Amino acid sequence: MEKILILDFGSQTTALIGRRIREFGVYTEIISGDTPLTDVILRDVRGIILSGSPESVYADGAAVDRRIYNCGLPLMGICYGLQRMNADLGGLVEPLPRHEYGGVEVTVRNEKWEIGNGKNTACFLNGFNPEISLDDILNNAPHLSTLTPQSLTFTAWFSHGDTLTQLAPGFRQIGTSAIGFPAVIVHEEKPWFGVQFHPEVSHCQRGSEILAVFVFGVCNTERNWTMERYVEEVRTNLSQRIGANSVLLLISGGVDSTVAGALLLKTLPVEQVHLMYVDTGLMRKDETASVKKVLERLGAKHLHIVYAEREFLAALKGKEDPETKRKTIGDLFITVQEREVAKLGLSDTYFLVQGTLYTDLIESGKGVGKKAHIIKSHHNVGSPLVDAKRKTGRVIEPLDCLYKDEVRKLGRLLGVDEEVVRRHPFPGPGLAIRILGEVTKEKCGILREADAIFIEELKRRGLYDEIWQAFSVLLPVRSVGVAGDSRKYGYVLALRAITSSDGMTADVFPFPSKDLLEISTLITNTESEIGRVVYDVSSKPPATIEWE
Ligand code: XMP
Repeated sequence: MEKILILDFGSQTTALIGRRIREFGVYTEIISGDTPLTDVILRDVRGIILSGSPESVYADGAAVDRRIYNCGLPLMGICYGLQRMNADLGGLVEPLPRHEYGGVEVTVRNEKWEIGNGKNTACFLNGFNPEISLDDILNNAPHLSTLTPQSLTFTAWFSHGDTLTQLAPGFRQIGTSAIGFPAVIVHEEKPWFGVQFHPEVSHCQRGSEILAVFVFGVCNTERNWTMERYVEEVRTNLSQRIGANSVLLLISGGVDSTVAGALLLKTLPVEQVHLMYVDTGLMRKDETASVKKVLERLGAKHLHIVYAEREFLAALKGKEDPETKRKTIGDLFITVQEREVAKLGLSDTYFLVQGTLYTDLIESGKGVGKKAHIIKSHHNVGSPLVDAKRKTGRVIEPLDCLYKDEVRKLGRLLGVDEEVVRRHPFPGPGLAIRILGEVTKEKCGILREADAIFIEELKRRGLYDEIWQAFSVLLPVRSVGVAGDSRKYGYVLALRAITSSDGMTADVFPFPSKDLLEISTLITNTESEIGRVVYDVSSKPPATIEWE
């Protein structure tokens, strides 16, 4: 299948480049920026994009296989990728007097480009032509080279501390940032282009058009990638790699691991597939029963459900500090996991499959590029079992280049229940980090019931799908209220509902006040232990999504 190869140097937005291009219907592959480019890797590649990076090319930034400069393929450098090309080809890159972040104006000049690369340059420059829409590019790319590009000033999205101070021989500067540094360059002879900003980011004006003219106008790539084809490829790879061995997947009940489970069940003989789910007692209402139902409907034969509520609650007894609680749960999870997996008696050759998404890897500092910086470390990507398996090359993460919305799409395709596919994310430590302070069975029960009312009402009122994540938090204080004729001290319940695209930043969902008031009344009327309901109006940053 024709594809665009993305060399990843560790930018937080590398996967977004792939996602944008896949949205156009073109297959992309992301590999570490310093991977040697063999014939096998370059097979069917129509163009190469060099990603951004948190590093500097003059420090220990990853080097690229110089074969990219003589393989004849079109190249596009983004941010660090542009600096990498410029430095590799004899130009100069130096630190900026001060970093340039966020929206910055860029001006692209319209000139008659009487250069060897004229046709490609005209195509590329028409990405900046305000009269040309994304649809024009997707549906009629060849005619782009016949149109005269227009000059344009637009807002691009930057995040860089270095700049080109001298262009490599053969390059021309055609776009300049508001503070006067090169923002767009093209090569006079070769199909090589570079932008200092990030066209993959949604706030970047004309970002999609710029990527699309490269992919279709310059690289002439066919639009033939669909999720259906992707599934076929992943399934073929899974079958070849796993062969007749057993596989084990730890299911959390969330979308990602359930979709990974569906993929295994629809690919391998069900006898080979072992699914394990640990009920920590910190799950949402009816979660275990629904996980069981969904997986059995997908054909699961070896579904191991471990009931460990008592163990988890005992370990959490008396613990109030959020980090101590998280660590207690994480450590016990590993102990239970190892004990229960040992009981299965699988032979050493079994494969461990994880439902890791690309964003999980990025957030854990384990992105495809070796240089991905650690942003967050609280996601449950590693454990001794996983590490040991990884050392023997027996960990498979079939969703690791997909984003959440793509996993949802894949889930639908594989026949996973709509209820699961739409489900909001749920953190590994579960209700424990939504019960502030000490966790008890009684508090879990109260929170579980109240949260079920909240979520059910959101669904009933058609609000659930507008929200990225909604949940309730039980506060460790009681407030005064009246019930009948007497005073009572009820718990305070905080409701949280946020909009987001990946959980890394979040806005408060602007709750219709009528719904909020009605839901609050319903909760206090139904749950006698709750005396008061409040709504959390904090965005992220400065707050996090979870309270602990
Ligand atoms: P925060 O609270 O850091 O959460 O803004 C961002 C997203 O991550 C989820 N989250 C977790 N997921 N294990 C997980 O699997 C965890 O320890 C964890 N902590 C937070 C959170 O629900 C939100 O979607």
